[in-house]
Amino acid sequence: MPILRRLTALEILDSRGRPTVNARCELDGGLAAEASVPAGASTGKAEALELRDRDSARYRGWGCRKAVAAINRELNAALADQSFAEQRALDQRLIELDGTPNKARLGANALLAVSLAFARAVALERRVPLYSHLAQILGSPLATLPRPTINLFSGGKHAGGQVPIQDVLVVPAAARTMDEALAVAFEVYQCAAELVLRQYGMRALKADEGGLAPPFPTAEAMLADAVAAIEAAGLAPGLEVALAVDVAASHFFQEDHYLWSGAALARGELVDRLEGWVRDYPIVSLEDGLAEEDWADWPQLVARLGNRVLVVGDDLLCTQPHRIQRAIESRAANALLLKVNQVGTLSEAATACRLAREAGWQVTISARSGETEDHWLADLAVGWRGDQIKIGSLTQSERLAKYNRLLAIEYQTQLPLVAWPGNPVAPN
Ligand code: PGA
Ligand code: ZN
Repeated sequence: MPILRRLTALEILDSRGRPTVNARCELDGGLAAEASVPAGASTGKAEALELRDRDSARYRGWGCRKAVAAINRELNAALADQSFAEQRALDQRLIELDGTPNKARLGANALLAVSLAFARAVALERRVPLYSHLAQILGSPLATLPRPTINLFSGGKHAGGQVPIQDVLVVPAAARTMDEALAVAFEVYQCAAELVLRQYGMRALKADEGGLAPPFPTAEAMLADAVAAIEAAGLAPGLEVALAVDVAASHFFQEDHYLWSGAALARGELVDRLEGWVRDYPIVSLEDGLAEEDWADWPQLVARLGNRVLVVGDDLLCTQPHRIQRAIESRAANALLLKVNQVGTLSEAATACRLAREAGWQVTISARSGETEDHWLADLAVGWRGDQIKIGSLTQSERLAKYNRLLAIEYQTQLPLVAWPGNPVAPN
């Protein structure tokens, strides 16, 4: 049984240059492992709380010294020399020590860093790769590699709001290997960058996740340009490369309507518009098509589009099991975007993943817009048999670290890429 000897932590910087938490977990016997946590910008209201110092004189309040101190002092004092038979036992202790419903006291950033560092240290002790250990934590065997969905264009909160929607991603639908999927996405991205230079007279201006972010006149122009880039790459839109869209509608929702490029859009009008997009563009996945508070209208989205596209809940669900349960019961979504730091521990995220799978949903394992060079996300997506993985564009080392880890896992395991459109478990 693993005995935790010591926890230490460090404040490091993420891909936006903002502080985040890196934890190190040492086990009895001397084996040790580290993990770093990401941070979102377009965050959901139901997310577990990231503890920030709020000292405006330092990193404009984004400092993580309090979260780091929580690990170095309180968590180390409480957990050192304790044995934990399994991940769930450690995570349960972390939740109890924090004592708040949203991890506000010690911080989800502190708790998740410890949860992940412990998982890595135990994988080392058991001499298994992290993805195998994570599969064991979830309780289902390795089977496939996730299909990457790769950012092409960005808007919304990640790109200064030139269009309301946040991401247009490419889905290499026909690719049979990770290697092939990335090569296809590279070609489309290069063609898109050339199109942006020609059409908008600008070199690649990149958003937080590396998506191209020219001043698209409308969201429809953004989608049409994505189709043009696929065609310019000599690929068939919809057949070889499809599109995924993160509408991130919570971020332009105002009480009872959506603020769409300066005009008010009623809820039903937004659903009509999204239905038109699914008809006119090769979209296979629609994330946060409605706002996180708009529970009443999500079932309409599923009823109208759910047989043609994945209706994915990100801000709506925040990887929180009770919200996923509510969405299953009310048929408000048919796919989960899983971000471990939205809930704060590996075990709670595993519960979220299991719930979604048991309902027959697909699961996209997702990075955040603020990332580090740590690549545990790739192991998680393989270990938990993600149907898709959403990391960002094929640029910037914090994204590439994860793509490179996926390539290494593909080389090591020779697992096949999950069949499109995924391998959901049939509902019980
Ligand atoms: P975030 O955005 O990491 O900034 O929250 C990612 C997303 O909305 O999917
Ligand atoms: Zn999202």
